[in-house]
Amino acid sequence: MIQKTIEEQLFLVVAENWNLELLYQDLANVKRVNITRKAKLSPIEKAMLRGLLAGYSPKEIASKLYWTAASVGVELSKGIYRYVEALTDRESNALKSWRDVAKWLEEAGYKTKNKTHNISINCGELPEVTQFYGREPELTQLKQWIVEKRDRLVMLSGMVGIGKTTLAAHLTQEIKSDFECIIWCNLKYQSSLSHILVEILDVLSPNGKSNDTVVDINIQINQLLKYLQEQRCLLILDGLENTMSAGSFAGFYQKKYQEYSQLMKRIATENHQSCLLVTSQDEPIDMPLLQGNNVHTLSLNGLGEAAKNIFLERNLSSFQFWDELISCYCGNPLALKLIAAIIRDLFNGNVASFLDANNNQTSNILPIYFKKLFEQQLERLSNLEIEILRCLVSNNRPICFNNLQDHLASESNAAYFIQALNSLRRRSLIDMISENNNTCFQINNIIKAYFSTNNQNKFELLALNEY
Ligand SMILES: Nc1ncnc2c1ncn2[C@@H]1O[C@H](COP(=O)(O)OP(=O)(O)OP(=O)(O)O)[C@@H](O)[C@H]1O
Ligand SMILES: [Mg+2]
Repeated sequence: MIQKTIEEQLFLVVAENWNLELLYQDLANVKRVNITRKAKLSPIEKAMLRGLLAGYSPKEIASKLYWTAASVGVELSKGIYRYVEALTDRESNALKSWRDVAKWLEEAGYKTKNKTHNISINCGELPEVTQFYGREPELTQLKQWIVEKRDRLVMLSGMVGIGKTTLAAHLTQEIKSDFECIIWCNLKYQSSLSHILVEILDVLSPNGKSNDTVVDINIQINQLLKYLQEQRCLLILDGLENTMSAGSFAGFYQKKYQEYSQLMKRIATENHQSCLLVTSQDEPIDMPLLQGNNVHTLSLNGLGEAAKNIFLERNLSSFQFWDELISCYCGNPLALKLIAAIIRDLFNGNVASFLDANNNQTSNILPIYFKKLFEQQLERLSNLEIEILRCLVSNNRPICFNNLQDHLASESNAAYFIQALNSLRRRSLIDMISENNNTCFQINNIIKAYFSTNNQNKFELLALNEY
C-alpha cells in the first residue's frame, strides 16, 4: 500500500465544493508558461491551495504542514499567488490578501457548488467584524472541527465580553465558502425556538415559504433536519444563555425554552451534512451527554498578547505596563476596550498613570457598562454559587475543596457543593489549579474586582431565589 504524505492528506474536503482537478491543471499550465518549465503543481502547492480554499490562513496551513509561517509565506508568494493572478488575468502582485485566492477562483467559476447565500434572518444579522485580533489557535481548532471533521454541533463558551460572538462571526466569514447556506440567529432579540424555526424554514424551503400552519415543534425540527440533510448549512445560535433560568445551576433552560435541548440533541445525533455553532456564557446542562465524535466545546480565555492591538488602536502609551493591564482584566476584550477608552480620555492615554490610580484601590476599577452586563450573567447564579465566589474573593488565594466547603457560612452537603462548583466551572467563572496534588479553585481578577467593590446586600437580595 502506498503511504500518503502529510500534504497529500490535508484539506481534501474542499474537493466537494471545488473543481480541483481542473484547477490543478489550469494552474499548472500557467506555472509552465510564466514561472518554470515544470507542468505540474507539487503536492505542497496543491495542499496550500486546498488550505486557502478551505479558509485557512497561511499561518494555519504552516502549522498543519509542520512548516514555519515564513516558509509557507515564501512558497505561496513565489507559487500559488502568482499562478492565481495569471490565471484570473490580473497583474503580478495584485493579490493583497490570502483570501483573494478563493474569491478570485470562485469568480472564475472553479467552484462547483452554488454560491453561499448569505442569509440574515429577522433574529439578527451576521455582525460585521472590523477589528479582529489574535485567536489563531482557536480558529485553527474550530476549522478543523467544522470544515475537516464535519462536526454537527460546536459550542463556544466563555464569560461575558470574552469574544464569543466576534470569534463566531469572524470564523463564519472565513469558512462560508464551505457552506451552501449560512443562518445567523441572535437569541437576544428572539429566543422562542418555534418563532426562530418558522423563519429558518421559510429561508430554507425551496419555494421560499414554509407551512405557516405547522406549530408542533417536533414537526418543525423534523423539517429542519430534512433541509440540513439536503444542503450543507451553517446555523449559528448566538447567545444561548438568553434561554436559561435564573437562580439555578448553570445550563437549565427556562420552561418555555426547553425545546432547545431537543434541537441540539437531534442535530448532534442524527444524520445530516450541516453544522450548528452555538455561543453561550453558560454551557447547557446536557452538553456533556452530547460530546463525542461530532460534537465539541471550546471554552474561550482572554486575548493575551493580541489585546495590545486594542491599546495601539487607541494610541495608549507606556507600553512597558501593557502586560500588567492585560492581566488586570484577564485579557477580556470588552473590559479592555472600555478601560482603554477611559485611559485615553481621562489619563491622556498613559497606562502607567491609570495603573497607579487602579493600584490604589482594593481591587481593579471595572467599567460600569461591563458591570451591568456581568450582573446579567450573575443573576442566573444560585445562592450557593454566589457564596462560593464571595468566599474565594475574601480569601484572595486558591482554596482546595475541603477548605472551601469549611469556609462557607451556610451548610451544604458534599453532593450539592460539588454541583455548585461544577456549575461555576461551566459558566467559566472559576478556574482549577493543582497545588500539592490537590485541586484548588480560584477566580479571575474581574470577578475579584466585581465582588470587592459591590455592596454585598445586593447579592443577598439576588440570592433570595431558591437554591
Ligand atoms: N478577537 C478580537 N479582536 C478584537 N476585538 C475583539 C475580539 N474579540 C472580541 N472583541 C471585542 O470585544 C467586545 C466583546 O466581544 P463579544 O461581543 O464577541 O463578546 P461575547 O463573548 O460574545 O460577549 P457576551 O457574552 O456579552 O455575548 C466587542 O466589542 C468586540 O469587538
Ligand atoms: Mg455575544
